[in-house]
Amino acid sequence: MDEGQKNTLIVDSDFHIRQSIKFFLERDGYIVDTAGSGQEAIEKIKTFLFNVIISSYNLPDLKGADFLNALQNNGSTGELIFISDAPDVKEAISLIRKGVFDYLSKPFEIDKMSFLVQRAVEKQRLINEIINFKSGFWGPFKHLVETIDARDHFLSGHSEKVRDYALRIAYEMGIQKKDVKDIELAALAHDIGMIGVPVLMVGKGLSEKDREQINMHPVIGARILAMNPVFAATIPSVLHHHEAYDGSGYPKGLKGDDIPLGARIINIAEIFDAITTDRSYRDAMSIDRARTEIIKDSGRKFHPDVVELFKKIF
Ligand SMILES: [Fe+2]
Repeated sequence: MDEGQKNTLIVDSDFHIRQSIKFFLERDGYIVDTAGSGQEAIEKIKTFLFNVIISSYNLPDLKGADFLNALQNNGSTGELIFISDAPDVKEAISLIRKGVFDYLSKPFEIDKMSFLVQRAVEKQRLINEIINFKSGFWGPFKHLVETIDARDHFLSGHSEKVRDYALRIAYEMGIQKKDVKDIELAALAHDIGMIGVPVLMVGKGLSEKDREQINMHPVIGARILAMNPVFAATIPSVLHHHEAYDGSGYPKGLKGDDIPLGARIINIAEIFDAITTDRSYRDAMSIDRARTEIIKDSGRKFHPDVVELFKKIF
């Protein structure tokens, strides 16, 4: 499943209902946010992109069709699933025609909800594929990135995973929708400069000179991306994704808050993927150990604010 379509919002005035649905969805790997009223949900969808919205039909401030209209008027493209005590069949059908994805009647089994959310996510994935295909951009671009990663089979799928981890951190951070898209693209493109590094050098025991050449990949990547204005907003994140909080990184030795936000996020996402994946010269670390290592480097290699969010997610 494409991890980019797993952002969900639960809307219910009852805190315990919100928390219990959140618990089950997070267990299934979804990224979950909650809102206690229709209005709070509307405020959230103005800023964040949710693929699936699970809402009580009888919200105190916005009921049924009114909530659906408010979502649509504020640009929501997520699938809406209503939970209702006793749904009126006629109204349910009319709302499904207007764009509601489906209904769940109380009491419902958790497996049924999981199944519905999974179907909604799959629908979003297909829609996205079509949009990407239409725009003729993401598909070929992802393919290009996959091809670069696959030059060393230990790096296969690396950029997609970094994109997934970076997205989770960016959403947890509450970054604006448009900026999240830029970070997503930068995360996918972060190692594109590896194309300028000889294949035989990738992943083997490195001399000082080899290391210097590999350390050029953010600069090469930024240069490649600068050739197309579509990538303009991604350049700072790609160029600085190997900077360290204490200034010991490269290529510029930037420190602390001088490191662009996208670069801080991609940096931690990249290291997390690198150390939890087998390489030709060492075995993968367990998630627990990788987590400990990253937390240990908070305030040294990594920005403490990003480490705090990382701890919540992983
Ligand atoms: Fe890199």
